[in-house]
Amino acid sequence: MAGINRILVVGAVGQIGSELTMALREKYGSDNVVAAGRKTQPSPTLRDSGPFVWCDVTDRKRLDATVEQHKIDTIINMAAILSATGEKNPQRCWDVNVAGLINTLEVAREHNLTQVLCPSSIAVFGPETPKENTPQETVLRPTTMYGVTKVTGELLCDYYVRRFGVDARGLRYPGIISAETLPGGGTTDYAVEIFYKAIEEGRYTCFVREDTSLPMMYMPDCIKATMDLMAAPFESLKHHGDFNIGAMSFTAAELAAEIKKHIPDFEVTYEPDFRQEIADSWPSSIDDSAAREEWGWEPAYDLARMTEDMLEKLRARHQRGELYGSGS
Ligand code: SER
Repeated sequence: MAGINRILVVGAVGQIGSELTMALREKYGSDNVVAAGRKTQPSPTLRDSGPFVWCDVTDRKRLDATVEQHKIDTIINMAAILSATGEKNPQRCWDVNVAGLINTLEVAREHNLTQVLCPSSIAVFGPETPKENTPQETVLRPTTMYGVTKVTGELLCDYYVRRFGVDARGLRYPGIISAETLPGGGTTDYAVEIFYKAIEEGRYTCFVREDTSLPMMYMPDCIKATMDLMAAPFESLKHHGDFNIGAMSFTAAELAAEIKKHIPDFEVTYEPDFRQEIADSWPSSIDDSAAREEWGWEPAYDLARMTEDMLEKLRARHQRGELYGSGS
């Protein structure tokens, strides 16, 4: 199998893409990692640290041209419409998440690329899935369009592996918590917003109930998981597009209590909205033994360590005048 030498990160301006691109530039060389955005301006750090192009994943011609022009051998497709936004515009969610993925897989097949990575999500699960320690192989009957697109994406990745020999890989990210780029339009966004509001305002109105428990992961672990899966030998993988990965699980109240250990006056109130139903349809914790066995997955951050690091990073950004509100 050919090596990974020239990587295109589609969706590079988003929450995960922006930090993953920087980590990939560190490992594979700045000039070898091309960041692609669709609309949002990249941060100066992202823009100035390596090649940046505009490329909408639903635009097949543009994707083809970008791969050819930059001699790309690996595509990481981080472009997606998340669960909450997806419920407001299901058709667009399907177009970006599914048509975008098929474009990526077709480009990989036609150009004989080394690898494609497209994340999946805990959103593939639904109300009938076992909630605790959710198995790798289980009921996939999601109730959101986002979940429907991610189940489809997993099946497509596995289909392209089997039918065309494309090396397509993916992991079921839990809610990702990070201090650099805000997430947008997801149900797990409260677990990020709460930190920004704690630092900026000392209070937060949470859009899910306090007893809502979901699987979460800190960004350094998310980057490690993604890069470790990329680097795993193809022969050692029994799964491809659908690895469960877990790190920590906590309720919204437990997260608030952990932040209060550092900011005793922090106040949280709970006003559940339509996202509660989405959260209630997802698991609380994840069995990730397949990822551990097949490519050595092991998370480093728990709730306490993540909270300490998040607050330290956001305080520093706040002092530099970089925070300016945290969305809804
Ligand atoms: N963070 C995503 C969402 O909430 C789940 O993958 O939509």
